This record gives sequence, C-alpha cells and structure tokens, in this order.
Amino acid sequence: MSLATETNAKSNSERILVLDFGSQYAQLIARRVREQHVYCEIVRHDITPEQIKNHSPSGLILSGGPSSVYESESPKCDPGIFDMGIPVLGICYGMQLACDHLGGKVESTSTREYGRAICNVATDDVLFKDFPQEAQVWMSHGDQVQRVSEDFAALANTSTCPVAAVKHLKLPVYGLQFHPEVTHTPEGSILLKNFLFEVCNCTGTWKLKDFANEAIERIREQVGTSRVICGLSGGVDSAVVAALLYKAIGPQLSCILVDNGLLRKNEAELVTEQFTDHFKTDLRVVDGKEQFLTALQGVTDPQEKRKKIGHVFIECFKAESETIEDAKFLAQGTLYPDVIESGAAEDGPAATIKLHHNVGGLPEELGFDLIEPLRDLFKDEVRRLGIELGLPEDLVWRHPFPGPGLAVRCLGEIREEKLKVLREADAIVIEEIKNANLYRKTSQLFAVLLPVQSVGVMGDARTYENALVIRCVDTDDFMTADWSRLPYDILATMSTRIINEVNGVNRVCYDISSKPPATIEWE
Ligand code: XMP
Repeated sequence: MSLATETNAKSNSERILVLDFGSQYAQLIARRVREQHVYCEIVRHDITPEQIKNHSPSGLILSGGPSSVYESESPKCDPGIFDMGIPVLGICYGMQLACDHLGGKVESTSTREYGRAICNVATDDVLFKDFPQEAQVWMSHGDQVQRVSEDFAALANTSTCPVAAVKHLKLPVYGLQFHPEVTHTPEGSILLKNFLFEVCNCTGTWKLKDFANEAIERIREQVGTSRVICGLSGGVDSAVVAALLYKAIGPQLSCILVDNGLLRKNEAELVTEQFTDHFKTDLRVVDGKEQFLTALQGVTDPQEKRKKIGHVFIECFKAESETIEDAKFLAQGTLYPDVIESGAAEDGPAATIKLHHNVGGLPEELGFDLIEPLRDLFKDEVRRLGIELGLPEDLVWRHPFPGPGLAVRCLGEIREEKLKVLREADAIVIEEIKNANLYRKTSQLFAVLLPVQSVGVMGDARTYENALVIRCVDTDDFMTADWSRLPYDILATMSTRIINEVNGVNRVCYDISSKPPATIEWE
C-alpha cells in the first residue's frame, strides 16, 4: 500500500503496522493509533516476517474482517509473525486468527452479534490498566472464540461471549473480540493506548508534520525532474495535495481546474485567487460548462450522471494536460473513505459498500503515473495537514464538495436555470451558517433541489414552484454521519431568505436522516 515503502520504513523508527484482513475499520484503527502520536500504516494481511522486519514495527495489529477463520479461502497471516517477539493485538477476526493459530477453538455463533455489549473485565493485566471493570463495547461478529488453549488467559467476557479478550501466556499476543477503535466503545482508546505504551513501549512522539515531511521526501524521490499535474476541484483535498506538491517540487507543478459549471458560487474564482496569488502555481482553468451541460441533457439517473461527468471531465482534463510538456505524473486527493467506499482498497479483501466515488478511472486513461499522498488519511487529518502546509483556514475548513458537484444535488435532469437556483440557495445556507458561527462546528452543509413542485402562496398569488432541502451533517469520517441539530432560528432565517431571494423555490425542508441508512448526498 502507498505508505508501506522502503523509504518510509527506514525514515521513521517508531511505528505500528495494521495487517488488513478486510475490515471496514482498518484505517480507523490506524488513525486511532496516530491520534496517540505513534505512526501507523496499513499493510497487506499476508506480509511476510521478513518484510515486517524491514519496517521495524513496535507492534502489529491484526484487523477485523468479514471472513471466518475456518473457511479455506479466508485471508490468513504468515504464522511466523507470532514468533517474531513483536507484540500483536488481534481485533475481532484478528483475535480469532491469533487464537486459531495458537491453539484456541473458534466457532460460529448461532446468531450474529452486532451492537453494544457490556464487557466484564477479569484481569489486572496492563492492557486493561485504567479501563473500567464494566464497560460498554461494540461487537460485530458471527464467529467467536469458544475455548482457548492453556497457553491463553481469558481477560474479559460479555453475557454472550465467554472470551471477549485474551492474552497469550508466553508470547506478547493479545486479542479483543470487540472493536476498541469505534466510538461505540467509548473507552476503547484506553486499550489501544495501553497496547501502544505499556505493551509495545512506544513513546508517542510522532506528529502530522512528520507525515508532511515524509510525504514531501517521497514525492521528490518519486518525481525526480518530471512534471506533475494536479487537478484542483475547489475542495480541501485537492488543495492540500497541490500545497504538498508545491512544497515538494514547486515549479515542476501544473494545476488544472476544470470548470464544469457544477461548482458552488464563486468557487472557480476562489481557487484561482488561492493558487495564483498565494501559491504562484501554473494554474490552468478550463471552461467546460457547455460541454458538461450538453452531456447531461436528459440524464436523470445518478450513476449515469456520474459516468457522463466522469467522461467529459477526462476529455477536458486530457486536452489540457496534453498541452503540458514533460508531464509524467498525476496527483489526486483521494482519501481513505473514498477508497474503502469504492471497494478499491489496493488488493484489499474489504467488501464493496458503494461504487459511486470517482476513484480509479481517470489515471489509467490518461497514461500518467499516479501520486495519491492522502490515500491513507481521513478528512480531519487532511485539514490539519493543510494548516501545517500553510493553507489559509478558510480553504482548509471548507466543507467537502463531491467531484460531480451540484449535479448530485440537483435531482432529476440538470438544466442551467435549475443549477442557478441551487447555487444561489446553497450560497445562502453557507452564508447563514457562517453568520451563526456554526460552519466549523458542522461537517457538511448544502442545499438540494428537488424535482418536485408544490403549491404555495406569495402575496395574493398561488405559486407552484420547487421544493428545496437543506442538508447538514456532523461526522468525523464521512463514513457515518448524523444530521445536525441546527437551531430553529437559523433554519428559519435560511428558509425565509431562500424563499424571498431565490426565484423558483417556495418550500424549504430540512433533512433529518443519518448515515446509514441515508447517505450524505442525495444522489
Ligand atoms: P455519501 O453521499 O456517500 O458521501 O454519504 C460521503 C462523502 O463523499 C462525498 N461524495 C463524493 N465525493 N465524488 C466525490 O468526490 C462523488 O461522487 C461523491 N459522492 C459523495 C460527499 O460529499 C460526502 O462528503
């Protein structure tokens, strides 16, 4: 995986490796470790002991995964990793795998256990130092360890799970059946902290700045004297990638912004200001508005919209990139949630959740080598990185914006006049949340224009106009999200302003769905 390079392995002495068995939470584990100031990266589950040695990790974490250890096809690790003397923490499937390898009995439970459970701790082992005797934990498994060999000690249990935590008596191997990395295990970070500092003897000196420096070094090494193209979208991810590249290779960078006519109000102008005034980059703005609108004519299906937008984007991007001499690399701001939700995690065994993100596709068609320096980070880590790199707060704290832009917020067929309505309404909701000083406290706020008309009355006249939805969510990682409890007064101001100031809208609704089961975007 992208971070698991030789250079990286040598340049940082204290690190934890997460062996990925296909867990939706593998990156969350890595991020929780980084939150404790210990560098962490994800590697393939079948990494060899020799390769592990190259990384000199202080500890290994075996992630969960959707498989059963007793299935012949299930992903396994090299059994040699348990004899390396490096502490191992197996989580869920990872624990079952460790127990299976080292003499325990894993069985399928009659019912899949999914949700909160109370964990009773029966040990004073360092792993549970400062952890409550009784704590809420999050379970998500179909199998569990029923019996452990005499080489193991059971450390905790729940009412349905006799072995909720284990420790090997001779080897530095621990296992947790529940997930300490998710917020539904409120004290989970204590366990990870104990594993890092008490078991692995980490010191916790790593900072995000180290990540920036390492990424810059890696980019320089990879790129040499070639030219790199970076697509800017107006969003924070591509801006951070561009800033990182600017720091790494300065004048070898060319940025392309394709104005697809689906951007937020003043977005193209803002980006231009930022990347030509603040960073003196070679920025090329491609006016593709007509092309995009023509391609979207008559298209109502969300996936079809994404496909069309993707195709035209490639055409515009390609045409512009061909005018840039010596360009060999393409930099993209792909983040981990994009990767995992597209099921595109490199060689990973994770199950596909969704296919809608714009991961893949672009690079191969264009024939460039790909640089994705943010591939292992979460959004909030990217923002902090942006600040480290000197990007202005305004830009770094912008709410995320999807690649297909307003097209996935303008339901039904896309037409210029509908986009205009949506763009104006969107600008109002953003302005009002900023006025209320809540922009930074919410994760994503936007307007959605419905292809639904409803009856209203304005003055003495009957109106029959569009309904518009305000969507505002709070989330840490955009993989799950809750709708924001915005104060009524703010919603009232937004609604009044939209109906008064935006022609074509006579009804405003507020979306009160969380993710899951809804997604953040409407399409
Ligand atoms: P969903 O709607 O899947 O969104 O809950 C999660 C996050 O991803 C963004 N998003 C996209 N980003 N291309 C992108 O670049 C897309 O097609 C796309 N769809 C959703 C969304 O805005 C949210 O931040």
